Amino acid sequence: MKIIMLGAPGAGKGTQAKMIADKYGVPHISTGDIFRANIKNGTELGMEAKKYMDQGLLVPDELTVKILLDRVAKDDCEKGYVLDGFPRTIPQAEVLEEALANIGDKIDFAIDVDVPDENIVRRMSGRRACLSCGATYHIEHVPPKAEGICDRCGKELVLRDDDKAETVKNRLNVYHEQTQPLIDFYEKKGVLKSVDGTVDMQDVFVAIVSILGE
Ligand code: AP5
Ligand code: MG
Repeated sequence: MKIIMLGAPGAGKGTQAKMIADKYGVPHISTGDIFRANIKNGTELGMEAKKYMDQGLLVPDELTVKILLDRVAKDDCEKGYVLDGFPRTIPQAEVLEEALANIGDKIDFAIDVDVPDENIVRRMSGRRACLSCGATYHIEHVPPKAEGICDRCGKELVLRDDDKAETVKNRLNVYHEQTQPLIDFYEKKGVLKSVDGTVDMQDVFVAIVSILGE
């Protein structure tokens, strides 16, 4: 089962992708998490990606595509995966499509988690992230057991650098210009499914399971 999560920054792609990965036993692959891990470890890739991410801009396709294609070629991806944050541009989608076609394969579902812009800024300012294990919390909706500490690994939780209100606005503009066209792209391929992302996260997941099957 090969799934793509679409949706604006903060729509809940990561939240839902983790739940899908747990239920269906496929890896959750987030290009954003891969970049953040590289930034944390001070790699060359991380330094380069940070320049764009801090401004709310997309990391250039040349960097992003290679990382993603290397990742999905790993053994744990044989039965499928859920992609979160990739593709984000039409050229990225075309490269993925071609790579899959070369092995006689294709994307099964592109799930658009639909949340209007008004809700997004509020959500982002409440998000707290663990840069060690990738877990995500929300100070109102999903608070950690101890304030500022990750339930899963005990490390410190932070407000992501790109979750400041001004950067979130840039990310939304970039989303509408470069990523939203993918909704049409996957609609034309016949694999697009939309879910209302404004409801409680468990209810969003119920809607997704009804699409993917039990
Ligand atoms: P990335 O990490 O992918 O960020 P994003 O798309 O901006 O999405 P977010 O992770 O911010 O949001 P999400 O949809 O995962 O929401 P979440 O589940 O956390 O990318 C970051 C940057 O990396 C990009 O800006 C770009 O620079 C670069 N990059 C990454 N991939 C790239 C690519 N392919 N090409 C080029 N550049 C790339 O939820 C948000 C909050 O809301 C959380 O606090 C959560 O608890 C809460 N929440 C979730 N669901 C609900 C709900 N139903 N009700 C209430 N609260 C909810
Ligand atoms: Mg995310």
